[in-house]
Amino acid sequence: MGFRNTLPGVVCAAVLLGAGQAATRPVWLDTARSVDERAVALEAALTPEEKRTLLVGAFAVSIPEVNIHKPAGAVGSAGYVPGIPRLGIPALQETDSTLGIANPFDVRPGDTAVALPAGLATAASFNSEIAYANGVLLGREAAARGLNVLLGPGLNLARDPRGGRNFEYLGEDPLLAGTLAGDIARGVQDQHVIAVAKHFAANDQESGRQIVNMAIPEPALRESDLLAFEIAIDRGHPGAVMCAYNKLNGPHACGSAPLLKYTLKHDWGFPGFVMSDWGAVHSAVDLANGLDQESAAGLDDREYFVTPLDAAIKAGLVPPARIDDAARRILRSMIAAGLLEQREKPIVNVKADIAVARNAETEGIVLLSNPSAVLPLPADLRCLVVAGGGSDAGVPAGGGSSEVTPVGGIAREIKLGGEGLAALFRRQIYDPPAPVAAIRARLPHTKIIWVDGRYPAEAALLSAVCPAAIVFVQQWAGEDSDIPNLTLPSGQDALIASVTHANPHTVVVLETGGPVLLPWLKQAGAVMEAWYGGSGGADAIAGVLFGDINPSGHLPMTFPASVLDLPNPALSGQYMPAGRDFSAAFPEGSNVGYRWYAATRKTPQFPFGFGLSYTDFAYSNLHVGGGQTLSVSFDVRNSGQRAGANVAQAYLTARGGQTLLRLLGWHKQSLQPGEIAHVTLTADPRLLADYQMVPHQFHVPGGTMTVSVGADAGNLKLSGTAAVGSRMLAP
Ligand code: BGC
Repeated sequence: MGFRNTLPGVVCAAVLLGAGQAATRPVWLDTARSVDERAVALEAALTPEEKRTLLVGAFAVSIPEVNIHKPAGAVGSAGYVPGIPRLGIPALQETDSTLGIANPFDVRPGDTAVALPAGLATAASFNSEIAYANGVLLGREAAARGLNVLLGPGLNLARDPRGGRNFEYLGEDPLLAGTLAGDIARGVQDQHVIAVAKHFAANDQESGRQIVNMAIPEPALRESDLLAFEIAIDRGHPGAVMCAYNKLNGPHACGSAPLLKYTLKHDWGFPGFVMSDWGAVHSAVDLANGLDQESAAGLDDREYFVTPLDAAIKAGLVPPARIDDAARRILRSMIAAGLLEQREKPIVNVKADIAVARNAETEGIVLLSNPSAVLPLPADLRCLVVAGGGSDAGVPAGGGSSEVTPVGGIAREIKLGGEGLAALFRRQIYDPPAPVAAIRARLPHTKIIWVDGRYPAEAALLSAVCPAAIVFVQQWAGEDSDIPNLTLPSGQDALIASVTHANPHTVVVLETGGPVLLPWLKQAGAVMEAWYGGSGGADAIAGVLFGDINPSGHLPMTFPASVLDLPNPALSGQYMPAGRDFSAAFPEGSNVGYRWYAATRKTPQFPFGFGLSYTDFAYSNLHVGGGQTLSVSFDVRNSGQRAGANVAQAYLTARGGQTLLRLLGWHKQSLQPGEIAHVTLTADPRLLADYQMVPHQFHVPGGTMTVSVGADAGNLKLSGTAAVGSRMLAP
């Protein structure tokens, strides 16, 4: 690759300005002017028909079986909005997204891309640099293919560990998810590709996602799901926000004035545009309520922003000025991301991008248990049993629109059934290379015995005669359905029980889309969570197993001890016959994840923020400062024998007389043995506040507040207090 991105329209635009003006650069191409000035000028140069074309997208894949054909001019990806060549406005070529550049239905025949690990792995890194590097990779890999809109990051809060798309997202905490999503968006847009924060808002479950009404009162939303988006937008300035399928407190998200018009655009001053999720528009009046662009209009039951919009305008339901505003917002984001400038397409360096993916997985693997230091495994084992999890093929990937056709080709594909279009989506694929190959490469002198794990007795008999065993277990998750419970599927618990019984030096590698129950935990020699590892997965897993890498991932989601401890032991709408609208209530309100366990005094299996290392860390010298907000400083010392990275976490644990638990900040740093990090953190005051409806603002209740610092939400070593003044925060 590496050919020129041609924008013939730029030349035409200068010509069209007429003889007297041809030498003057049009205002919208003048990079010395502000983005807003340029957007206003460009919008003014558009005809009413041209503005309308910007408001409607098309599905840009080819599925002849169901009469879907890629539009002319589309590169081939999830979506396409034609450009306006006479003014140098390029088409929007929209691609999925969160875990690599997707190639849906092989629309770009044979095109493979580097697969990033699950979003949960990136979140587990607790590392902004990892998130930013992922964004750069995504932006660069998109731009190299002529794609200029990336339909990510995804940052719905993991309200329920059974959520089918949790693996794509960034965990259960608004600060963590919002911060990392902002970093990803920055990375994407630094490559001149528009980032799209999705799915706005509260698409926190897949069950009934088109018909569920997520009933979450506004104050709770503002302190949780919406706060994550607010933080991401402040930090990363994504050019667009994708509204979600679900209803939210009544209207569908894509037609919700409270959500789009008032919260996003008015209160937060979001200057970009709102695009719909694919098939999420239900009325032309959605334009009046804040939606700017109907994506893949052919997937809606009518193309609402085409003919029905004329009728809605005529009936006075949509002010015509909204068309100008929507067009201007779209143009503004294009200008801000640099889509109007001519530039060379980047060249993808697959090797370098695999290294980026591997780093993300390396920092995202969470060591959950290692009581007698079975890990790291020695390299001079006589023999080693490796069982299960498709570890002879690759690492599992999640399903749905985020699925990437990985470099090296799909290592294994398992069809999961279903009918129609959905069946094309429902498959489990594996990304190469195979973990067993990565293990072999590290242990050239060890006899590696691989078994598929179908017969626990076989795996156990073989494991009994070797000094150690590794069992890979997996749980598939994908878009459009949630997971029924937290038990590993297909009898894998029995496999682990047999092998750990036969050999206590058994390491369990979890490759799951979220938390699972570990009934055999006490028998296992060691357990690590590797999520869906992506193109660098096998190597990163082997690196942790044999100690080239000291694990530093921390859980971005609580691992519950039982489904009965969840706010909703039965997931609303799961397995309900399709078609009947329903409401889902969330007793936890803004207390998502670990905050729920703290509020209800339940002890989870593993708390949020948990993660072991091959070294130890000691905390000391906590100072807490008050005033407008809380600030903390403390020291962390590597008190063990190996170099390793620490993720020190600070939580608000009491406010006035009320105990609570809210992550205020964290600091990740690599430390040599004996080395000390001096950490200072300042709390975002929204994290100290409650959201009030009158007036619509965050309110910090003044008083004494307690901050606790430590290794995870369940293991806080030091506490200190300071007084914070009462105040309303500017909206
Ligand atoms: C998903 C979005 C995705 C879109 C385009 C939808 O089904 O919810 O996340 O970006 O499809 O593929």
